[in-house]
Amino acid sequence: MKAPIIAIDGPAGTGKSSTAQGVASALQWSYVDSGAFYRAAALLALRHQVDLEQTTGRVELRERLENACIDQRMVGGKLQTWLDDTDVTGAIRSEAVTRAVSRVAEDPSVRSIVNQDLRRRVGEEPAVVDGRDIGTVVFPEAFLKIYLVASLEERARRRAREAEPGGRELDGALLASYEQGLAERDRRDRERAEAPLVAAPDAVHLDTTNLDLETQIARVVRMARDRMNQAS
Ligand code: DC
Repeated sequence: MKAPIIAIDGPAGTGKSSTAQGVASALQWSYVDSGAFYRAAALLALRHQVDLEQTTGRVELRERLENACIDQRMVGGKLQTWLDDTDVTGAIRSEAVTRAVSRVAEDPSVRSIVNQDLRRRVGEEPAVVDGRDIGTVVFPEAFLKIYLVASLEERARRRAREAEPGGRELDGALLASYEQGLAERDRRDRERAEAPLVAAPDAVHLDTTNLDLETQIARVVRMARDRMNQAS
């Protein structure tokens, strides 16, 4: 029998990663951040100056990805992402990667390689996986699918707080620039032809605008436990 999977999807800034990590820790399951795989692919493209607007560039990235190894490890309660023998946990969160990643994630070959990697690494043991298409495309058999949403204003505030810890004050102009960046990524994620961001028909929607992280995690853990009890 295949190990159970919880899929957590939704737009950027809704708290997917923190929620998924908290749920995985509460259930003592593994946690997989699929966005980090796309970010590692974008980093690979940037490092080799691959031009994704050209067919030759897309072929080159596919070949490089097929020969690369993207790995995730939980070390001291923190998820690390490795690209071959380099820890790229910090590098994949750079502004340059964040700007480039939607374009990389639109490429069908990149998606197919990442999906194969994800399916290979998940399946042996119970896992919580977060992303955009986990419940719809990668693991449609997931026993619990959560679709997180939150207002654009709140998502921008969260992203700005993460990026400017103790730094610049979150004034209107700064928040507006985060809102604009998020809205653009939402649009690209929703409008792409391949595996667009959409809720699975059987996903449970959870609006996190006014929820703190602890409550989000507790709600998902409760749903997971209820379903496991029903199934046993
Ligand atoms: O969740 P994130 O911001 O780290 O995701 C990075 C990018 O990868 C984002 O543009 C959406 C894309 N992504 C995707 O297309 N499919 C996934 N399963 C996960 C992320």
